Amino acid sequence: MRRNILAGNWKMNTTISEGTKLFNSIEERAYSFSDKNIELIIAPPYTHLAVMDIGNSKNLSLAAQNCSSKENGAYTGYVSAEIIKSVGAKSVIIGHSETRKHSGETNSTLKKKVDIAIEKGLNVIYCCGESEQDRKQNRHKEVIEVQVTEALFHLSQADFGKVIVAYEPIWAIGTGITASPEQAQNMHAFLRELISNVYNTVIANETSIIYGGSCNTKNANDLFKSKDIDGGLIGGASLRVDDFIEIATTLIDTKAID
Ligand code: PGA
Repeated sequence: MRRNILAGNWKMNTTISEGTKLFNSIEERAYSFSDKNIELIIAPPYTHLAVMDIGNSKNLSLAAQNCSSKENGAYTGYVSAEIIKSVGAKSVIIGHSETRKHSGETNSTLKKKVDIAIEKGLNVIYCCGESEQDRKQNRHKEVIEVQVTEALFHLSQADFGKVIVAYEPIWAIGTGITASPEQAQNMHAFLRELISNVYNTVIANETSIIYGGSCNTKNANDLFKSKDIDGGLIGGASLRVDDFIEIATTLIDTKAID
């Protein structure tokens, strides 16, 4: 069965005491989702990962927001997949448009990150998304196809099973402008078709494809109702516990998860 996922990307927000408080509130309230088909993933700053305690929650885990493409060594300021794994995180976000932009990541660097993350035992939340200009020029599908082909489609079937794909149109991130449910569904269906062509329909149907970009309590319902949208990667709204839990409840309700 396809997993429904709600991931919170805290970006460069929260001090350790703010983050711990926020995480503990989420952990406490997420407990009631324990028997549902929903996974909550929190991606705080690196520094917080080691001190966050997931307690007994079955469906709550931690992710890093990035990792190095290198194994270890003289890379001041970078954090390896192995270090992330060693603090108990289960996954890592790779290819967020902010790291693509600010760190000059190319699809080939991202491929290396994907490989090393999986080798070290992490799951990958791989982000792809087009710019406003790409969409205006009707190149959005082409751009997405290149992003997933160059960084993901070399993976074996077993390793591809460790990947969650996040569709995040750049123009929707932190802007308050969300992709319409039609735009998002269309792209998610396209991604699923690509996966099906490269692997097979069973794998395509089992892959969780989540949406990110100004997803909030107001628009989550319409987005999650779409059949190929399996949850969200939430930035701003994940910093407010009530909003994040409300979005999680919406995901459960729209998918009628038992
Ligand atoms: P946003 O961020 O929800 O604040 O738009 C989403 C993301 O960048 O993952």
